[in-house]
Amino acid sequence: MDLFEYADRQEMDERERYEELCHIVRHNNELYYAKATPEITDAEYDRLYREIEEIEGRHPEYRTAESPTQRVGNDLSEGFAKVRHPVPMLSIDDVFEHKPQAEHETDEELVNFYERLCQSLGDPAPHVVVEPKIDGCAVTIMYRGGKLSYAATRGDGSEGDDITANVRTIQSVPQQLPPSAPRTLEVRGEIYMPSAQFDELNAHRDAEGLPVFANPRNATAGTIKLLDAAEVARRPLRFLAHGMGAYDGKPLRNTDDYERLLSEMQIPYNKPILHGHNLDELRAAVKEMDKLRRELGFGTDGAVVKLDDYARRDELGATARAPRWAAAFKYLPEQKETKLLGITVQVGRTGVLTPVAELMPVLISGSTVSRATLHNQDEIARKDIRIGDTVLVEKAGEIIPSVVKVIEGKRPDDAARYNLVEAVSGVCPSCGAPVTQEEGQVAWRCTNFACPAQAVTRTSYFCSRAALDIENLGGVVAEALVNRGMIHSPLDLFRLSQTELGALNLGTSEEPRRFGEKNAAKAIDSLEKARKLPLERWITAFGIPSIGTVTAREVAKYHRDMQELAESAYLRSLVELEDHIARYNKLNPSSPTNKGKDKTELENQRAELSQKIEQTSAPYTARGYLTIEPVGQNGLRLVNPIGSVSCRKLRAYLASAAGQLVLTTLRELGINPASDCYAESFVDEVQGPLAGLTFVLTGSLSVPRDEMERRIASAGGKAAASVTKKTNYLVAGEGGGSKRDKATKLGIPVIDESTLLRMMQNTEDQ
Ligand code: IVH
Repeated sequence: MDLFEYADRQEMDERERYEELCHIVRHNNELYYAKATPEITDAEYDRLYREIEEIEGRHPEYRTAESPTQRVGNDLSEGFAKVRHPVPMLSIDDVFEHKPQAEHETDEELVNFYERLCQSLGDPAPHVVVEPKIDGCAVTIMYRGGKLSYAATRGDGSEGDDITANVRTIQSVPQQLPPSAPRTLEVRGEIYMPSAQFDELNAHRDAEGLPVFANPRNATAGTIKLLDAAEVARRPLRFLAHGMGAYDGKPLRNTDDYERLLSEMQIPYNKPILHGHNLDELRAAVKEMDKLRRELGFGTDGAVVKLDDYARRDELGATARAPRWAAAFKYLPEQKETKLLGITVQVGRTGVLTPVAELMPVLISGSTVSRATLHNQDEIARKDIRIGDTVLVEKAGEIIPSVVKVIEGKRPDDAARYNLVEAVSGVCPSCGAPVTQEEGQVAWRCTNFACPAQAVTRTSYFCSRAALDIENLGGVVAEALVNRGMIHSPLDLFRLSQTELGALNLGTSEEPRRFGEKNAAKAIDSLEKARKLPLERWITAFGIPSIGTVTAREVAKYHRDMQELAESAYLRSLVELEDHIARYNKLNPSSPTNKGKDKTELENQRAELSQKIEQTSAPYTARGYLTIEPVGQNGLRLVNPIGSVSCRKLRAYLASAAGQLVLTTLRELGINPASDCYAESFVDEVQGPLAGLTFVLTGSLSVPRDEMERRIASAGGKAAASVTKKTNYLVAGEGGGSKRDKATKLGIPVIDESTLLRMMQNTEDQ
């Protein structure tokens, strides 16, 4: 065999191997996702998958849209194209369940709907089906010639967003249908996120310091509109079919036919499907569905009732908004009355204090409820909830019970008002640190770095990629470390030995699962590296609310290292300046609020403040660390590069007991992270001996004024025409009248020419 033949042969073998691998992986995807009967272990699956990736790396030309790896596409989609729906994607008319009331049936609207069907069809008992109404996002998936052609959102009903790249990442959506596929099949259905996976995703995001999603539907909606298909692939999305758009294939008579076709195509259909052959059966089915839907593992917001027969559906048609042959039955959330025995406070994983209603236990939607969230103090006040009240409790969205309202007329005389902050005496019930309320927010929070209630969250955030990027130390490990008392706060990690960490049990005592030496070694190694990570990463790692990576970097520009930040005169000055300036502006004689006040007195006070402002800001304005600008009529404004709120929060944190503990611990551990962007943005401005200084010239000098101005500029300084608060020095030659007076009044130093020349000289000599 010569060399070329050998190469050809290898190529051939690789191609075959590739096809084989794709086949196995696709087959297993189907077994796993559509039938839930996998034949291989996850590890084996991962190995095969990785081999495909490797071959594609060597031969990108093998890769097609159907490749299993394209389900985990890592290409960035460029916005969304629009897709025109061949058959409009409509809505469904709602029929609501009502509270039991005399003479009215709770399902009156459902009965009306069925009677309308009977009338229009001239049939006393048309056959209907009842399905769960999935609380997700509508999607349409077009198959042409058995291949997934595109997927789109509902959009405005006639045109939707092309989300094909994202939908391809959903494992339960086949890319390719079996040979018996209809020529055209447009499957309509719902993308959703199962409840358990949703909780997991949120816990993860919480640990990473990312905002959590309000509910599974939001999480789904947010995900399918992401522009990064690789990120979509990491989100636990599922798909279930519940309808049909365009179709060209064997005729379908009813739901059964369609469901059979989809099952043959291995497209999962929304189940269970209950049947009603008359009104009573329909009413029973809808009742039954209310029980069954709780066991599905994903959110439902009702039941959909549909005429079973397809020909008759066509006969009825649709309005511009919704088909006449379907209705969505919306169940009332189950509510019960019970007594509010007390209110306790829970410290959440992010430090938020949540008031919790302690209730006399009641059975709601099949489970006993003895606690319900009261959300926050505002909510308690708004609903005027008092301890001892009889309250109405419901399980909203079947997840967390909440208190709907107080039942009138049942309030005992001794019902007690409640105030959250008073109840906890202003301190965190978990650690005793003072609680704070953020500006513009209703929630009270404990911001203690060492708060045990937050230890897990803080630790996993501390170790997250945005912070110190500690390998192998995610939420699960953090939780085990905290639960086993091995750490109480993130910095304790630095005191763990490799052996201790390796022996950590991630499982239970019956079924232990060791963290392991290897993982421990990696974690210890990243902890070692973290000691040397730049200041901004450490500031981020503290997890101070509103101080994320951007602010942290800004702070690091003004501080050399943690020690300097710990005693930051700069932060103190910023806060002081803000306060002075606020007072200065308040004393403005031209302000209408100061009408009738003694002008000279105001001016005097202002002059005093102005001097303070000048003194405090001078060293920083000179370096370009901050600017004070005139605003409005005689007002001033501080341009604070760190931001007022962040500045105060950071200072409060550093001064707090928790912050002090952190700083001492860092000193003990010999950790003093240095900034790697110190004074970065001022480099240009700071060059030259007169950098950051503004001079005003007056009187006659030894050289023409423009020549002197040029010299000042080439030494890095600025020459201005008139004396203002921004002026650093007035350079006065012979004569010079009004400028000198103004400078003296503003407390600006007046120097002579030789001093100026020495300043240029002096600094140059250094
Ligand atoms: S059938 C013409 N069946 O609910 C629409 N829709 O509120 C016929 N939905 O846009 C759709 N579960 O996205 C149908 N079992 C189900 C459903 C369902 C959820 C969605 C669907 C529709 C929306 C209307």
